[in-house]
Amino acid sequence: MRWTVTKTGLAETPGDLIVYPVFQKDDAADLGALLKAAGGPPSAAKGKGKSGHGGGTGLKGIIESAGFTAKAETTLPVYCGGVKAGWFLLVGMGPAQKAGLQTVRKVAGKAAREARSMKAARVLVSLPAAGVLNLDDTALARCWVEGAELALSPIGELKTMPKKKRPADPRDWKFLVEAPRHRALRGGVQEAEAMVAGCIFARHLVNLPPNILTPAELASQARRMARSEGLKCQILGVPQLKKLKMGGILGVGQGSTNPPRLIVLDYKAPAGTKVPTVALVGKGITFDSGGISLKPSAGMGDMKSDMGGAAAVLGAAVIAARLKLPVNLQVLVPTAENMPDGSAVKPADVITMASGKTVEVLNTDAEGRLILADALWYAGRSKPDYLIDAATLTGACVVALGKFFAGAMGNSGELLEILQQAGGETFERVWQLPLIDEHKEAVEGTWSDLQNIGGGREAGASTAGAFLAHFVDDSQAWAHVDIAGMALADKGTATGPKGGTGFGARLLARAIQILVT
Ligand code: BES
Ligand code: MN
Ligand code: ZN
Repeated sequence: MRWTVTKTGLAETPGDLIVYPVFQKDDAADLGALLKAAGGPPSAAKGKGKSGHGGGTGLKGIIESAGFTAKAETTLPVYCGGVKAGWFLLVGMGPAQKAGLQTVRKVAGKAAREARSMKAARVLVSLPAAGVLNLDDTALARCWVEGAELALSPIGELKTMPKKKRPADPRDWKFLVEAPRHRALRGGVQEAEAMVAGCIFARHLVNLPPNILTPAELASQARRMARSEGLKCQILGVPQLKKLKMGGILGVGQGSTNPPRLIVLDYKAPAGTKVPTVALVGKGITFDSGGISLKPSAGMGDMKSDMGGAAAVLGAAVIAARLKLPVNLQVLVPTAENMPDGSAVKPADVITMASGKTVEVLNTDAEGRLILADALWYAGRSKPDYLIDAATLTGACVVALGKFFAGAMGNSGELLEILQQAGGETFERVWQLPLIDEHKEAVEGTWSDLQNIGGGREAGASTAGAFLAHFVDDSQAWAHVDIAGMALADKGTATGPKGGTGFGARLLARAIQILVT
């Protein structure tokens, strides 16, 4: 989709559809601005006086009799002969004082889907007058573009139905607005385009089936992305993992015919000035069968999304590169397939991790922490200022927070607060969970330094985080984000189809943006 900002008037700009946000006031649609903009009654009648605007006739009457009250995310198409584009799509915003960033995304998403089904190729957006919303114009444009683009994010790439039979997306969007607002709006569009690219890349990776997206394929997807975004890319295969003694990644991968990898990407800030260093680590289990501790078959297919953390950090790298963020960013993705063949890790096996610590694998389904531990240790060697990992790590986190929040924990109050702020803005919300010494003690081992599960099911998200903490230097600012409930949507929402959500890509990029500015 192409986005432009222009000051041409609503009445004379050519297009196929005008998307017109309407606010709610006292439970009714506030039509003042619309009636003025629409230039009179919907019919060709050019009567004198205020014909058509009052009473039960004209545009106002039509809207009222359709029962349109501008409740958020409701829509009403109306035809209006007085303007060149003809068709209006009124979109309800709800009450102006309640409309936030996510309202804008949802409304734009709704409008985009309606525009597509109305086969409108050129869409004009009449943005609310300055000051009506409690948002600055950069945020307004950013959220509008994010909402529209993400709502139409493609799925079904493996369907063989000819492309031309599928409805086309609206291709040309114009914000119609007075000149002094253009600069801020254009800035928002640019930010959104980066955010959308990262999020859609993450969704694409999650949606790929696990027979296609093996660890090797995830690595080549990352390499291809790195090439086009101008990042350095290094892929460590089994011989190199062996040299680094990465018993966690190798142990999890040894039960599969698709061998594991460690993907390492580097993005360097444009200028030569001193900038903070951030390392992101994402769990890249391309399929989690549970291994010898096999999962039940119901819903096992969802475990193709067990590389959602990898998708999030790779998406964040796309965004950082496109926004040219002033940061030196390293992105690490340990990737493996957790399968139960004859050579698989067994419960009671003791493995030696890259850090040298020994771990008893009591449950082969607690595999994510094993691959992350090696990658966190590797990331820590270069002492980044901030270290963040994202992982679909525990069912316990989903039980605690549902699909509403990711769980965040770590050793840095600053980092956790920034993640919460970022998530509030991108609407990828995170909630802090505790991580204390007692959780770390719960994963201390009997036969080895550590064991990969705590006792029983208690505090499962925290003990998983605590296992990771054993591989992070205490002086290192670190946060762990458990996105287990968030990577996959079982039904479509206002801002995206069913399937991969891309959760975390925008969140992590926004968090970095806050960290470095
Ligand atoms: N990948 C799963 C966690 C998960 C669950 C992700 C639901 C998304 C949705 C993880 O590897 C896992 O199996 N965790 C176990 C840990 C347990 C064995 C301590 C779990 O949560 O049951
Ligand atoms: Mn598992
Ligand atoms: Zn897993």
